[in-house]
This record gives sequence, structure tokens and C-alpha cells, in this order.
Amino acid sequence: MSNPKIILLLGGGGREHTFAWKLSLDPGCTQLFIAPGNAGTAECGVNVPISATDFPAIRAFVLENNVGTVIVGPEEPLVRGIVDYFLNDPDLRDIGVIGPSAAGAQLEGSKAFAKKFMERHGIPTARYREVTTVEDGEDFLKTLSPPFVLKADGLAAGKGVLILDNRAEALDALRTMLAGQFGEASRRVVIEEFLSGIEFSVFVLTDGKTFKILPEAKDYKRVGEGDTGPNTGGMGAVSPVPFVTPELWEKVETRIIRPTVQGLSAENMDYKGFVFFGLINVGGNPFVIEYNCRMGDPETEAVLPRLKNNLSDLFRDLLGGQLNRTQIEIIPETAATIMLTAGGYPGDYRKGDPIQIQDKEEDSLYLHAGTTIRDGQLVTNGGRVLAITSFGNSPADAVAKSLQAVERVHFEGKYFRRDIGRDL
Ligand code: AMP
Ligand code: GLY
Repeated sequence: MSNPKIILLLGGGGREHTFAWKLSLDPGCTQLFIAPGNAGTAECGVNVPISATDFPAIRAFVLENNVGTVIVGPEEPLVRGIVDYFLNDPDLRDIGVIGPSAAGAQLEGSKAFAKKFMERHGIPTARYREVTTVEDGEDFLKTLSPPFVLKADGLAAGKGVLILDNRAEALDALRTMLAGQFGEASRRVVIEEFLSGIEFSVFVLTDGKTFKILPEAKDYKRVGEGDTGPNTGGMGAVSPVPFVTPELWEKVETRIIRPTVQGLSAENMDYKGFVFFGLINVGGNPFVIEYNCRMGDPETEAVLPRLKNNLSDLFRDLLGGQLNRTQIEIIPETAATIMLTAGGYPGDYRKGDPIQIQDKEEDSLYLHAGTTIRDGQLVTNGGRVLAITSFGNSPADAVAKSLQAVERVHFEGKYFRRDIGRDL
């Protein structure tokens, strides 16, 4: 018999260690499995060597271990339809899965789908055209002024967005994308007007009809200090974000969150999970840059520690259609996360370097991302290695504490940004 308190968490990054840490303190979780997890999640539950996209292996594991709740961390299993896979299987149908169906996950899985959805529901976003030929793209580019934004329609591991300074470069890039630069993902391209402003991330938990707002965060995407160099998965995060004033929040809720959830409901989309709104503040007005169908990484590392509620309570209400009665409770202090990366990331980097953590700062969270245990030794196992989160009375205070905590971690090639939150 499946038991909702036996939880399987899918994924293995910093986001998942944060979920696992929170669940390890949660009386509504009596047993936690993480597939595949990392060295950090292994301290919160039992890691199982199953890929988050191996549905038949997940099925077998869930049935053998009476798992009653599955939490999906990353987008890929969602876009590939893990929720539908459970719903269509009589043996799995009653197991609660936190995440949208494949149809709902299209908000992230197809940029063209997301743009059309926003158009249908009057949600502010950059002007765009969806193209499959260079000629079509050329016509639209003529109506825009530089810089030009090109987005592969499908999932491209966070690399599918190119921003070009002039039209000739944009056309060249478009040609390369349509020719399959990102495989099938870029056979269709969304060309967008460039929006100028400051970005922030907003998260809601929704059952596709009603929603609860979680704390907002700001992510630092570029590898270099002063927001320079190539894009990464995220080098740090701060929550809350001081420039997201009550006035801005009001606009975000009425112009973006409400119409999005009403759109999901009007289109009968099965969506029981997180919506991550990547927003940009253009002169006091919020626009959607992108939707994601999951929590952010490293935003989760700053957002979840501020949540007082037990996740098991939220998920029970979400799956039981009782999200309305949920009160979200937030710790008012600022949380700041600094990501430690392997030398060379986001380009080529090494794995397998030994990691030493000595005299941890007690008030900081050492959240593992790309780590594993090899021959009893903690070693690096990804580009983003560890995320360190601390609380403070201001972004500067919280970041200062995380910077101190970072000094306790040693591995060859360790890199991080010292300027997280400095712009806030
Ligand atoms: P995405 O994967 O859609 O989040 O895009 C990656 C990054 O490209 C975003 O975080 C923005 O910094 C930038 N970007 C995407 N679309 C636009 C746009 N229309 N205007 C300006 N910057 C954009
Ligand atoms: N930090 C951005 C993301 O999770 O997509």
C-alpha cells in the first residue's frame, strides 16, 4: 500500500538537496528516497541509483517501496510526461506526483507554446515571432532594433537563448539554430524583442485552479563579477528582493500570476506543481521572460530555507484540492546563496577533485549540487559543486555570512562570485 509519507524526490542538484534537507525536518515525511541524489541528499535520506527520466525503473521502485508521493525536481521528466505516465498506469494512479502534466510542462518545454499561451491570456511579454525558416526570421528581424533575442523552441539545457548585437550576426545565428545547432529543439526558433530591465524570479505552488505565492528571489546568471562572461545555471541567489516593492508585487499578481493560473484552468491543464516566472522589471512594469515548470536552481536554495511551512502539508493540500486553506508562512530575514563552481565552468571543467569542508559555519547551510562520494571521499561531480546559504538582516549581511562560510570549503579550482547581492 502506498503511503504519502514515503517520499521519492527526483533529481540530484542543489535544488534537490534543499528539498531533501527540508523534508528531513518534516514530520510528514517518514522515509525519503532521492533518485539519483548527490552526497548531500544521502545525509537526508536514501539515494537510489535511478535516473530521474527512467520511468520504468521509477515505477518499479515506487511500487516496491510503497512510495506515496513523488516530487519532481528538474524539468526533463516533466516535459517527457512523468505525470501522465503515473496517471495512465492503474498501479500508479493514486500516487501523488508534484509537477505538471506534459501539457502543462509545455510552458517550459516549448518557448513558442509559452508565447502563444501568454498571447491568449493577455500576459505581458516581449513581442515575438515563431519561425521555422530563415526568410520568415529575416522579415521579423527587420521590424526590431538591436540587440536581437533568439530562442530555441525546445529544451536546450539552459543554452538555447542567444542575444546578438547586430542583424547580420542574428541572421547567421538563426541559420545555425534552424539547421539543428540544438538538435530538434532549435528547428523552431522564437525571435523576440529585447527587453531592458532587471530580472527577478517568482514562484507559485498551484493545483491549476488556485495558487499560493512563495518568496521571490534574484538569480545571478553570469559567471563573472559585475554580471560579465557567459551564462551559467546560476551563481547565487538572494531572497527577498528589495526592488520588488508591494506596488510591483501587486502588478505581478494581477497581470501575470492570476491570468496564468486562470489560463491553466480555462485550458483544463492538469497542473499540480510549481510555476517559476522569470520576470523582468521594465520601468516599473513586469514582463515574462520565461516560464519554468519547476523550482529554480539556485533560487530554491535561498527560497525554501525561508519557508516555515512543512512541505508535506503544502503537498497534501495541493494534491487534495485544498490549497485554498493553506497559509504560507515566511521567515522575514534575507537568505543569500553563493554557488561554488569547478574551475572552467560553464565551459569544460574537471570532476573527481576531493572536497574538504572544515569547521562549517553553524548558521549556514552547505547544500550540495555536483558532489558524490568516491572511495569514502567527498569529490566534485559537476560544474556547480556546492551552494552555501546564510541568513542576515539585509542582502549585504546575508552575503557576508555566506562569504565567510565559503572559506571553509576547499577543492582544487574552487570559484565563486563575491558580488552576489551587491546590486540590491
Ligand atoms: P531564458 O532561458 O528564456 O530565461 O533566457 C535566458 C536569459 O536571456 C534570460 O535570463 C535573460 O537574461 C535573457 N533574455 C531572454 N529573453 C530576453 C528578452 N526578450 N529581452 C532581454 N533579455 C532576454
Ligand atoms: N536559476 C535559473 C533556473 O533554474 O532556470
